[in-house]
Amino acid sequence: MTELAATFKQEAVAEAYQHRPPYPDEVFDRLVELITDEPRRVLDIGAGEGAIARPLAPRVEHVDAIDFSEPMVEAGKQRPGGDHPNLRWQVSPIETADLDGPYALVTAGASIHWMPWEETFARIVPHLTPNAQLVVIEHGPVDEPWGDDLVEVILRHSRKQNHDPKFSVVDAIRERGLLDLIGTARTKRVTYRQKVTDYIERLHSTSSLARDLMPADEAAAFDAGVTEAVAPYAQDGVLDLTIEAELSWGRPTIPS
Ligand SMILES: C[S@@+](CC[C@H](N)C(=O)[O-])C[C@H]1O[C@@H](n2cnc3c(N)ncnc32)[C@H](O)[C@@H]1O
Repeated sequence: MTELAATFKQEAVAEAYQHRPPYPDEVFDRLVELITDEPRRVLDIGAGEGAIARPLAPRVEHVDAIDFSEPMVEAGKQRPGGDHPNLRWQVSPIETADLDGPYALVTAGASIHWMPWEETFARIVPHLTPNAQLVVIEHGPVDEPWGDDLVEVILRHSRKQNHDPKFSVVDAIRERGLLDLIGTARTKRVTYRQKVTDYIERLHSTSSLARDLMPADEAAAFDAGVTEAVAPYAQDGVLDLTIEAELSWGRPTIPS
């Protein structure tokens, strides 16, 4: 797992990351609503190139965006909203990050499964306001009509061979006594139109399908396989994707 997480330190992955669909706007409305304490400071853990931190920064007092990948943080600084005055980037593992709370909200977008949970919670919990919540957010395309064919291609090339589709990171954290879950929600689905070539690059932004993990001929075979799987559904080289996000929030704790 640690080895795959290090994939995010590759320049090519940070570059490919711009092709991930944005989180639906509703995510940010919900995040803002979950802040009940002052100051309205947010800690975004495993911030990547700021898919959560950048849109959120203008809507709160401050966001500390922490990520251990320098290429991801550097990419984030260049992307829209990456230089907002409310946003402070820090390249560091979250376990040893320099925190400047108290934070009224902690956000973890597609990131917490990579982290050592006990060390992470021990680091962040002392820096929270009394009613601060941790929100775990996941998002991506759903109901892809080419899904079965795509999974076959992915399984042929993925560097993660023990993928368990039933694994829930939120359940796993709760079982360790680290989270008192308060609520979950799914956003309304939104349509996102994407060129097939960008859709393929998005897949290479995942830790297990990074281009640098594959010899060039394998990457070409992967790209050809995905192109073939989606071809019947593309119009003029463009796909209509349906994007949904899921949020789970609660009170993070350190077991005594
Ligand atoms: C899939 S990306 C998610 C990025 C962003 N939150 C988003 O929603 O698009 C996961 C990120 O977590 C970061 N990461 C993984 N383990 C970390 C750790 N222990 N400390 C800080 N960042 C970490 C990786 O570098 C990567 O940028």
